[in-house]
Amino acid sequence: MGIFDKLKSKKKEAPKGATIQTQSSNDRMVLAKMVLDTITDGVIIIDGNNAIQMINPAAAAMVGYVSPEMAVGVSIAGVLKFENGEGVPIEDSSNEVMGAIVRNEDFQTRNYVLVNVQNQRKPVAVTVSPVKTGHGEKVITLRDIKTELEHEGEQTEFISTASHEMRTPVASIEGYLGLALNPQCATIDERARKYLEEAHSSSQHLGRLFKDLLDVTKLDDKKAKLHLVPVEMVDLVRKIVDGQVPAMGEKNIKYTFGAVTGTNISDGGGHAIMQAAYSTVDVDFLREILNNLVENAIKYTKIGGAIWVNVRGDGDRVLVNVTDTGIGISPDDLLHIFQKFYRVDNSQTREIGGTGLGLYIVKMRAEAMGGKVWAESSFGEGSTFYLSLPRLTFEEYERRKQIMANTEAMTAAKQGGVSPVTGQQTTPQKPTLIEQSNGAQLASEANRGPSPGAPISTESIVKNA
Ligand SMILES: Nc1ncnc2c1ncn2[C@@H]1O[C@H](COP(=O)(O)OP(=O)(O)OP(=O)(O)O)[C@@H](O)[C@H]1O
Ligand SMILES: [Mg+2]
Repeated sequence: MGIFDKLKSKKKEAPKGATIQTQSSNDRMVLAKMVLDTITDGVIIIDGNNAIQMINPAAAAMVGYVSPEMAVGVSIAGVLKFENGEGVPIEDSSNEVMGAIVRNEDFQTRNYVLVNVQNQRKPVAVTVSPVKTGHGEKVITLRDIKTELEHEGEQTEFISTASHEMRTPVASIEGYLGLALNPQCATIDERARKYLEEAHSSSQHLGRLFKDLLDVTKLDDKKAKLHLVPVEMVDLVRKIVDGQVPAMGEKNIKYTFGAVTGTNISDGGGHAIMQAAYSTVDVDFLREILNNLVENAIKYTKIGGAIWVNVRGDGDRVLVNVTDTGIGISPDDLLHIFQKFYRVDNSQTREIGGTGLGLYIVKMRAEAMGGKVWAESSFGEGSTFYLSLPRLTFEEYERRKQIMANTEAMTAAKQGGVSPVTGQQTTPQKPTLIEQSNGAQLASEANRGPSPGAPISTESIVKNA
């Protein structure tokens, strides 16, 4: 029985002589209906089976129904379809709103764009609130935040321009202080040196703060374009993380690539064989994510510790994990570490520098690519950070690569430049030639590719580098 039915039945059950009480509860119903019919925010109540029980006109319009009555009884999963800010559909497995509904949890987000049943798009703030005294009912609110985001965009642009402009004089101050401290450029007494050293390190600090501000504004810039390309993840992740191996060496950290899960089979020669796994990523975003995760693993792991990085296919996802034997994160802090500027404050972390932006950047970048990040940790023992991205089959990966190559060749041909695919000079030609080759060529190319299970990477260990 739904909330409104209960209210109605209460009215029926009211004893004789309780007219005043009945009247006032009736009045409250009328008032509640008036409010719900008038407000511009959408309100939906769903029952324990996640079917819409009540929906106000604003919510009906947002989800694309002409009248609220038409939406009553419809499953909420059918009307709450989302994309992220970059236009990438949020898959059911990553739909946090539906996740909260199913788990009966409070939830709110401003990161989703609602794609309604008419296929119209609207950025929305969504909240999910389970009714504490009900039978699995939940209240969902939807607020159109298009104007809000536009205002925020203007603010972001202002901060971005200001921090960019201020970085130039700060860099110049830092440069001149550096020169003053260089014995080959200037002669200064010891006391002046101390003051200048302080000024130099503060100017460096200021420079970093401006850089961080710029990074955040870039992240919040909804116009930032995503360049998704099909990739083989094992090889790509290994190459990116290899860049941080020298930093691990400086702390005597033992690094292992691809040896954490049971999916790796030893080939008998001491090497781990890893199955290729395919995805579409923005390579710069992936680099930013991995660099931040591995940088943290190094930063929060003591000298002589260990780090593992692994990549594997997991159903329709590719799962990357960065595991360390570091200081770990308490369950309370674990809930907040992906928030902007959040830093764990304890005796161990106080010594270690940082702004608390790294994991926020990681989360935003992962979500932009249709992915998810989360962490597991044992305080004092170590942590594992996971990145999951949509997985492609080998055939789909080959098909997309071919389409990309064709598009690039077509662009180069149109412009009469050098083809980025063949590296040869091209002359302008009719694009139809390339389009015609698409279907048949695609299929035969896919068949000629390497087998999906081919070993493509080996374990790499760095000891006392
Ligand atoms: N691998 C890890 N082990 C233990 N604690 C971690 C780990 N990674 C992150 N943390 C905790 O989470 C907090 C947030 O991490 P985040 O990367 O966002 O910020 P940061 O490292 O402090 O600064 P920066 O912006 O320079 O990356 C850190 O301050 C740290 O306390
Ligand atoms: Mg960090």
